[in-house]
Amino acid sequence: MKFFVDTADVAAISELHDLGMVDGVTTNPSLILKSGRNILEVTKEICDIVPGPVSAEVVALKADDMIAEGRKLAEIAENIAVKLPLTWDGLKACKVLSDEGRMVNVTLCFSANQALLAAKAGATFISPFIGRLDDINVDGLELISDIRIIYDNYGFETQILAASIRTVNHVADVARIGADVMTAPPEVIRKLASHPLTDAGLAQFTKDWAQTGQTIL
Ligand code: E4P
Repeated sequence: MKFFVDTADVAAISELHDLGMVDGVTTNPSLILKSGRNILEVTKEICDIVPGPVSAEVVALKADDMIAEGRKLAEIAENIAVKLPLTWDGLKACKVLSDEGRMVNVTLCFSANQALLAAKAGATFISPFIGRLDDINVDGLELISDIRIIYDNYGFETQILAASIRTVNHVADVARIGADVMTAPPEVIRKLASHPLTDAGLAQFTKDWAQTGQTIL
């Protein structure tokens, strides 16, 4: 499963990228706001760090305007994936931009039927939002499973990008189901390394080693 990092924080992206943990990046208008940066400038910086797909989201609501914004965002770098909302206009824009050979990430997906439409419109990625479904007591993981089954039934090549990941358990769960990609905030990716038994074991080894009186270097 590919790891995308869900942030516009360049320092965090750079740190994770140096560790080999970043196959791509996702941003959205809220993350651009949080960064305090200009969308075109910060997205260019991210694309210079990460060679994989970097999603940059349009903000227009009408298809023609989305297409114009998408083309402008795609000029930033070759690895831009234009992020479009899963609306009828977003699907129209997806078809046009995909036919032009651009990567498209269709976002704000909350149902299997929406995912089916995005695949038919030629989306490169579909982003089902797990956490936001969990927030309203709907099983977000079931949605990932349903989309996996549907895409496999018909050989759709659209990649399932599990999004709105809030916990470390979400990551293992979507990997088990077979999501192609997951995107998570940097802090969730860092937490994947933590385990209380690792900490306890390391404390014991450190204590015992001190008693040997030895050094390695
Ligand atoms: C994905 O592309 C979105 O930017 C993101 O995963 C949304 O996550 P949230 O629901 O935690 O805001």
